[in-house]
Formats: sequence, structure tokens, C-alpha cells
Amino acid sequence: MTSINALPRIDPRSPDGRLLPLPVSGGFPVTGEPSNTIAAAGLTKRYGDTVAVDGLTFTVSPGRVTGFLGPNGAGKSTTMRLLLGLERSDAGSATINGVPYADLPAPLTQVGAMLEAKAFHPGRSGRNHLLCLAQSHALVPERVDEVIDLVGLRGAAHRRAGTYSLGMAQRLGIAAALLGDPGVVILDEPVNGLDPEGVLWIRRLMKRLAAEGRAVLVSSHLMNEMAVTADHLLVVGRGRLLSDCPTDEFIRRHTDPGIYAATPAIARPALLEEAFLRVTAASVEYAGQ
Ligand SMILES: Nc1ncnc2c1ncn2[C@@H]1O[C@H](COP(=O)(O)OP(=O)(O)OP(=O)(O)O)[C@@H](O)[C@H]1O
Ligand SMILES: [Mg+2]
Repeated sequence: MTSINALPRIDPRSPDGRLLPLPVSGGFPVTGEPSNTIAAAGLTKRYGDTVAVDGLTFTVSPGRVTGFLGPNGAGKSTTMRLLLGLERSDAGSATINGVPYADLPAPLTQVGAMLEAKAFHPGRSGRNHLLCLAQSHALVPERVDEVIDLVGLRGAAHRRAGTYSLGMAQRLGIAAALLGDPGVVILDEPVNGLDPEGVLWIRRLMKRLAAEGRAVLVSSHLMNEMAVTADHLLVVGRGRLLSDCPTDEFIRRHTDPGIYAATPAIARPALLEEAFLRVTAASVEYAGQ
């Protein structure tokens, strides 16, 4: 795979659409603002009587994969929609690189996201879907083919996206998220529907994006996968922040000390599920019998 950083980018400030080398990954730097960073402060969202997001304050830093965990209905997707300006908060703030999403001049070049895998026109080919997005940001068509190759969709790029399997749709969504070479990447359950090769691919991709200095926020219910992918965890329950710490620290803090000590370091990721269940036990709203 090509390094994403090495790909040509267009500076959206350039009136004639010239290719300009950008000094910092993830769009142009805004003086004095944090780069490649997501921040929420007192973020709150209510739907009627439901407090979906309840005063969340956190920072997602560059250079690491941050796992966003919580039981069903904990408010993960709502938080992501708030970060992306798809919902209006009732209180608090959500910013990307210090700026609310709505005020970003060229959002695709600063933050890429995949929330719904099938968020495309089913009649359009995958490539056309990406071309439309690219045109909206004056990105060169070559960039479309680069991200198609990056996600391994070349063989299906000219097929109607409506005929894609779930895993293919996920790959198209990830291609769209990476189109503008953003410094911030937000993925809501990207592993959903991927085959084992796809799971491994996305794990490596997220790690690489983080190693390139990007901030990566990813939600998932697959504990084993998160344990080996995420450097840091944000855990929420009923809209509230339950934990914000490195993954290994989360496991150590919330596992029986005897079991932790008896488990070799290489096997400790397997303890994440137990730690997660302990931390969220009081926040589970939807439990089967
Ligand atoms: N558009 C909406 N209208 C009303 N309630 C909503 C809406 N969107 C979300 N909610 C409610 O907000 C809460 C949080 O939902 P959200 O989808 O953010 O949870 P989640 O953590 O993403 O869950 P999951 O793991 O199941 O994806 C839930 O109680 C949900 O029913
Ligand atoms: Mg969700």
C-alpha cells in the first residue's frame, strides 16, 4: 500500500486548484489551533426524555488509535454525529482541530468519517460516488483511484454501489473517509461485516493512520479486536464518560489483580472483555434474558 502522506493533495485555499505540498498531514494548519485533534467539552444531546450524550468531556489525540466503547445505546454514534455537525448539541461543544465542524472551510481535508456503511446513492458506481465527493473539495480524480486501491475495491469500482456486500460498502465508506487525506478519522463500527482478511486489513490501516500522526476514533463491540488495535480507550455508558485511559491501564485497573498478574502480557488483550463488562455493568440498558 502507498503511504497516504505521500499522495498528492490540493490545498483548498488555492483558487486555481493547483497542487500544493502541504506541510502538515491532515489539511492546512490553522495557527494556534491544535492539529489532528478531536475535543468535546460538556457535550450533551437529548432526545425527548432520553439523554443520549450527557456532559461528555474528552480529547482524542493524534498519533494513536482511540477506541470508543460502550453498550448498545450508550451514545457513541450520537457523539460521533455531534462531532461531525450532523446533530446540534443541547449543551457543550464539539470541535475538530479547535473548530466546530460547521466552521471547517474544507472538512474532508481535515476530518474523514464513516458512520453508516451504506451512505451512498445505490445507483452510482463506487468510483462515481467518490468522484462526486472529490469534486466537492476540488480533489484530483487520481486521488479517487488511489483510495480505491487503498481499500482494495478496484475490481468493483465500476459496479453500482447498491449491489455491494456489507463488507464492500464498508470499504467504500473508508475510501470516502480517507479521500481528503484528513488528519482526523472517525469510524463507527468499521469492522462490522468484514471478513477475517478485512478485519486484519482495517486493524493495520488504523494503526498506520495513527502512526502517521492522525487522530483515529473508532467504535466497536469487538473487544478482542479493540484490545489489539486501540492504544487508548474512551468508555461510555448511558451517555456518560466512564473511563478515559490507555488500553493496558484500563485492563489492569478493571481486572482481578490475581488474574492480571497470572496472565502473560501477550495474552492480556483477552482480558479487555471482562474489564469492559465490569465497568459498564451498571450502564447496560438493553440486556437479553
Ligand atoms: N434520532 C434519534 N431520535 C431519538 N432517539 C435517538 C436518536 N438517535 C439516538 N437516539 C437514542 O440515543 C441513545 C444513544 O444512541 P446511540 O445510537 O448514540 O448509541 P450507540 O452507543 O451508538 O449504540 P450502539 O452500540 O447500539 O450503536 C439511545 O437511547 C438511542 O435510542
Ligand atoms: Mg452506534
